Order: sequence, then C-alpha cells, then structure tokens
Amino acid sequence: MRTPFTELVGCRVPIQQAPMGTISSPDLAVAVAEAGGVGTLTALGLPPAVLLRRLDEVRARTSGVLSANVVTPDVDDGLLTAVAERVRLVDFFWFDPAPRLVERAHRAGALVNWQVGSTAEARAAVDAGCDVVTVQGVEAGGHVRGATPLRTLLREVLDAVDVPVLAAGGISDGRSFAEVLAAGAAGARIGTRFLATPESGAHPAYKRAVVDAAGDCTEITGAFAVGCPLCATSPRARVLRTAVERLAEVDDDVAATIGRDRVPVPRGSGLPPVAGVEGRLDAMALYAGAAVGSVGDVRPAAEVVAELVAAVERPTVPGSTG
Ligand SMILES: Cc1cc2nc3c(=O)[nH]c(=O)nc-3n(C[C@H](O)[C@H](O)[C@H](O)COP(=O)(O)O)c2cc1C
Repeated sequence: MRTPFTELVGCRVPIQQAPMGTISSPDLAVAVAEAGGVGTLTALGLPPAVLLRRLDEVRARTSGVLSANVVTPDVDDGLLTAVAERVRLVDFFWFDPAPRLVERAHRAGALVNWQVGSTAEARAAVDAGCDVVTVQGVEAGGHVRGATPLRTLLREVLDAVDVPVLAAGGISDGRSFAEVLAAGAAGARIGTRFLATPESGAHPAYKRAVVDAAGDCTEITGAFAVGCPLCATSPRARVLRTAVERLAEVDDDVAATIGRDRVPVPRGSGLPPVAGVEGRLDAMALYAGAAVGSVGDVRPAAEVVAELVAAVERPTVPGSTG
C-alpha cells in the first residue's frame, strides 16, 4: 500500500502504532514494524541509558521502520540526538512545536512527526519543519490534545498543510481505516486496537476490559493526573468510564501495587495497569479511545495490521456474496 507517508518513511503499510507509554512494549513495536507498519516506543519515564538500550534491542530484532515518542519539551539535546540516530521517525506530542527540537532530530538523520489537536497547531508544526503531522481527533484514547472530531480536523488540516497527514482517534477497524484514507489521510496512527494484542504491555484484565467494552463507554477526565507529567499542563485523557466510577469507590490512598517489590500505585495515578500490577486495576487509568466498542478480541498485532490492510485492498461490497 503506497501513500505519501509510506514513500517518505519507507514502511510498507500506512499505519503507525501509537506510542502508549508502558503499554507500547518492545514486542509490540517489533510486531508492527515486522508487519510493515511503524512500531513506536515511548521515552517517557525511562532513564536515558535504558531507553537507548531498548531502542538498540528493538532495532536488532527488526529491519522495519521504528519511531520514538517524546512528550516533554525539556528533553536533553544529547539524548534527543542519540534517540534520533536510532529511529526513522521522532514523534512529538503534547507541547508547542519547537523548531530547535525538529532541527536537532533532522541533524541526527531522523524525520519528525508531531501529533496535533488543532489546525493552528498543525500549521505551527509544519512551520517548525516537521515532515509529517498527525491529527488527533477528540475520539482518541489516552491524553487528548484538542476538542475537534477527527473527520472535521482532518479535513481542515489537509487544506492547511502540504506534508503527509496521519489520522488518529477512534480508528479501530477496517472501515474507519478505509474512511480516513479515502478522506485524504496518508495513513493512520492507531492506539487502542493495538492495546488488545498479546504483544502489548497491558495487564490481561485491562485487555479484557477493552474487549468487553461496548457502545459509548469512554469519557475525557482529569481524574488520573497523579504523577502524570502530561496532566501537569492539561489533565485531559480519555478512559473507560467504568474506571472513573470505580475510582470513586476507592477510599485508600493506594489503588494497587506493582512488581515483586509491591511498589504502591497511588489512587488517581496516570499509570495504566501493566502486567505485574495487583489491586484495584478496575479503578486505574484504563485509557481507551471512543471506538473501543469495535475491538472484539485480543489478536496478534500482525493480524490486526493484515485485517486493516485487507479492508482497504479488498473492500466488502454491500450485498455481495463473495
Ligand atoms: C493507552 C494509551 C496510552 C497513550 N500514551 C501516549 C503516549 O505516551 N504518547 C503519545 O504521544 N500518545 C499517547 N496516546 C495517544 C495516541 O498517540 C493516539 O492519539 C491515540 O491512541 C489514538 O486514538 P485510538 O486510541 O482511538 O487509536 C496514548 C493512547 C492510549 C490508548
């Protein structure tokens, strides 16, 4: 599948697996990159040496296209250079486009993608030198930058900029993927659908909650802002509504523990439940996009990619028998 995005970054399929903090595990990035999309790791919360080692390990496991996500403007120059030397795409989100950071990533040989929540921000990203812009609709899971529905924002941004544009937010099946491509997007950035894969770092109970979710069952909240650097500037994240309801039932300051050392996870923490968490997982930050209802199973990331691609290459004709 060729689009201006695949041509630019060198992947075979116009799909970027969204960065999802601890959920976007090395296994998930490798699986998506091997399937022809862009596999993504997040810098957030990792000591620099660990991040660089992880990028090297992932790099050694796939010859596919990788990106690395940075969500804080105070990223160290040397670290940004080292990250950009290891991936095809450096991926920024949650702060104003910064020409200095774009230039540094370019100088180290990477392309730059900036996820935006408004048309003005998309223009600023292109003015800052970005090679790709991702428009994030309000339907997106996790931290939500803007307030505009994806289709409206995509249309406006396509009119406003001349770089490849990825669409993000509520794309979780072949139909929605085909729709954004037909609307002019050069690809899609997908989070929630990839959460329900064996390769993701999500706790099995979190994957089950995503699969079981149906209908209009998410909301944007500031309830999970404890220890979250993104919420420090704007506490807006889309989660399963049940998580907000269950949080209200938790009286303790600690909602859960993590790992063999049982490190406490405070009530209202921005950390989603990963493997190894024990306690009130149902009252933790269960980030999920508005289209979570159409995620019907946990299946390998390569199958997710293949299914999305098939929907575009072999669209089902209504009423056809074959
Ligand atoms: C569990 C989860 C964690 C996320 N964490 C990040 C992150 O660390 N950095 C980032 O740029 N975006 C993050 N996002 C937002 C994604 O970049 C993207 O906008 C979103 O997943 C698209 O919507 P969808 O989940 O409906 O596909 C996260 C999304 C989810 C679901």
